[in-house]
Parts: sequence; structure tokens; C-alpha cells
Amino acid sequence: MSNEQVYAGGLLNRALDPTTQPPEIRAFLQAEVDLLRELIRDGMRAVDIGCGTGRHLAMLGGRLALGVGVDYQHTYIVEAHRLVGSQHLQFVTGDATALPFESGFDFAICMTNTWGTMSDKAAVLREMRRLAPRPHSRLLSIYAPASVPARREWYQRLGHAMLEITDEFIATDGGFRSEHFSEARLRSLVGDCDVQPLADIAYAVTF
Ligand SMILES: C[S@@+](CC[C@H](N)C(=O)[O-])C[C@H]1O[C@@H](n2cnc3c(N)ncnc32)[C@H](O)[C@@H]1O
Repeated sequence: MSNEQVYAGGLLNRALDPTTQPPEIRAFLQAEVDLLRELIRDGMRAVDIGCGTGRHLAMLGGRLALGVGVDYQHTYIVEAHRLVGSQHLQFVTGDATALPFESGFDFAICMTNTWGTMSDKAAVLREMRRLAPRPHSRLLSIYAPASVPARREWYQRLGHAMLEITDEFIATDGGFRSEHFSEARLRSLVGDCDVQPLADIAYAVTF
């Protein structure tokens, strides 16, 4: 099974249930929210790549001039519309490597290691740079190697036993593959970027 098929099976909804989350994961998710509140200012136009059911745009909604979320899982997009869709919060089904919008965003975000589950990472970075052209207006939230024990626990609680754990990824028997990154690997993939620790298990990368 591919990540796309695993997400189609509803993995995200189960993963966002706080009762499935080890404390390190909960702290990381909260640190992401705190960081977004700091970075995204009133009146910005923001695009969320791999938005899932839209929780980050929903949280920022009041301060955005425009929020657009994109995800390849149509069921998540339908749910995002139902939960928070409005004139200034829009959700679109699409692939992160070929996004169906013009440039003109103040900020592009790709949260909760979404980029670490994508196969064509360079194409996603290209799209983020195209949509939010100003340097350091693009944010990736990415797992560090220190996340492995908490993620192993979390994925097992979600019904995915471990198949393989390496220095660069976890693969589960349910077909889910999620990468983690050293700071050096992040810099080699992203190029010019700032890398800051996020909680104890992740990095915030702006480029
Ligand atoms: C780890 S989840 C995070 C969802 C959301 N950002 C959140 O934090 O609640 C990753 C999301 O990215 C989506 N996704 C993965 N690869 C994608 C791609 N190539 N294009 C669009 N969406 C993708 C998945 O369907 C899933 O909703």
C-alpha cells in the first residue's frame, strides 16, 4: 500500500484523536500551533500544502485575508469545507507537486511532517517557492531522528506495526512510510534555509 492509500483509509482522522498521541507528539503538535500563531500575521494570504481536514487554517482563519488548503484526499477536503469552509477559507483537491493556483501568497506552510511523507520533495519545494515567492515565507515542519520512539508508539496505537526503521524513515506493515531528517540532510535537500528545533522531536524549516 502507498501513503496515498493509507491516508484514503482515514489514518489522519485517527492520528488527530489526542487519545492516540504519546505526550511527545502532543507537545510537538502544540509547538506547531504556537509557531504558526507567531509567524502568520493579520491580513496575510496563506496556502497550506497537504492541509488534511484544515485544522491549521481553521485555527488561523480569523487573521487571514485568504487561506487556501490543498490535499490529494478528496474526502479530507470535503470534511475541511464542512468544518470551516468560508469565503476566505477555501479547500481544493490537488497534488502538492502541481498546484492549481497562481502565485501571490504571503506564506506557504507544509505541517506535521507532511513533506516527510511525500515522494517528490523537490517538486513540492518548487511549488512552495512559486506560490509564496518571498524568501523565508515558506515553512516546513519536519521530524528529527529523536522522534522515532514516540512515532513508533503512535503508529502502533494506530494499528500499524513496524516493518523497518532506518536513519531516514519508518515503514509500517500497513504501508505507511514517514521520513525523519538530520539537520544536514534537511539543508542538502532544501538549500538555503533556517532550521530551528521544534519541541524535542522536530524541526521548523523556513526557506
Ligand atoms: C501528516 S498529514 C497532515 C495533515 C494536516 N497538515 C494536519 O497537520 O492536520 C499529511 C497530509 O498530506 C496529504 N498529502 C500527502 N501527500 C500529498 C500530495 N502529494 N499532495 C497533496 N496532499 C498530500 C495527505 O492526504 C494528508 O492529509
